[in-house]
Amino acid sequence: MNAVKSYAKHVEIGEVMTGGTVGQVVESGNTKFKAGDYVVGSLGWQLYAVSSGEALAVVDPKLVPLTAYLGVCGMPGGTAWIGLLEHCAPKVGETVLVSAATGAVGGVVGQLAKLQGCRAVGIAGGPKKCEFAVKELGFDACVDYKARKLVDDLKAACPNGVDNYFENVGGEVLDAAFKVLNPFSRVALCGLIAEYNATEPYGVKMFRSLLVNRVKLQGFIVFDRVDLYQRAIPPLAKLVSQGKIKYHETIAEGLQNAPKAFIGLLKGQNLGKQLVKLT
Ligand SMILES: NC(=O)c1ccc[n+]([C@@H]2O[C@H](COP(=O)([O-])OP(=O)(O)OC[C@H]3O[C@@H](n4cnc5c(N)ncnc54)[C@H](OP(=O)(O)O)[C@@H]3O)[C@@H](O)[C@H]2O)c1
Repeated sequence: MNAVKSYAKHVEIGEVMTGGTVGQVVESGNTKFKAGDYVVGSLGWQLYAVSSGEALAVVDPKLVPLTAYLGVCGMPGGTAWIGLLEHCAPKVGETVLVSAATGAVGGVVGQLAKLQGCRAVGIAGGPKKCEFAVKELGFDACVDYKARKLVDDLKAACPNGVDNYFENVGGEVLDAAFKVLNPFSRVALCGLIAEYNATEPYGVKMFRSLLVNRVKLQGFIVFDRVDLYQRAIPPLAKLVSQGKIKYHETIAEGLQNAPKAFIGLLKGQNLGKQLVKLT
């Protein structure tokens, strides 16, 4: 939201708050859409929007539930797919570690890692989230960073070290993960949620690990690779409809509760994709 240099345009005061949306066309002057169609796009925190249709896509609510197009079969799922399969490219038998493991992106990363024949290990906040990652999402292990012994717990959960690290959090979590990387491991730098509200940069302490281990680190933004994103969604929807990828959603009711839900996400109060049902 801040007016600082970033990959996305900041939100101006008085402007509609940015946000991915799924909804129904009420009226259309664009021949690609007709009234009644369901569409996904980025129309922000508002009940109705006017769009040229340029960045909207029609979605099929019979394939997967509409909400899934905002999560597992939408931008977060596509992010997981690109970061893991394109940037990490894990091999069978390797260990994949992911932070914010029960979140919208992290939950898909762990399950894709399992489908690739890897050991999937998560990092999440609190025993309930860790249990969810293992019992519901099928991770091999999940480590609670709030237990304050992250490095030791990571060593126990990753006895062969970490070959692929999918980073969603930053800060102390990232430094702990850098301590367990294997030589020639890959890091997909997806997000730094622990640092978004910080007034001072955290300052990575274990940077040296990247050199010592000859690590390949790639920062990425999902929409830089629209080609891959578009290719990822159909297989993700198929895996979800077959029950091979599971997902959870936390749904706040009403536009008036959107700010509270957003602040809750920054405190880890969501499990899976945080959504707001506007009406
Ligand atoms: N590069 C891209 O194109 C791209 C696209 C989508 C998302 N992202 C990024 O990917 C990350 C995950 O996004 P998401 O939509 O899947 O969100 P999410 O994981 O559903 O929700 C955020 C989670 O982050 C964790 N968290 C929040 N504050 C934290 C802190 N201070 N320290 C440690 N963990 C904290 C919380 O989980 P715990 O309770 O487990 O701590 C919270 O539930 C974010 O950093 C987001 O900005 C990047």
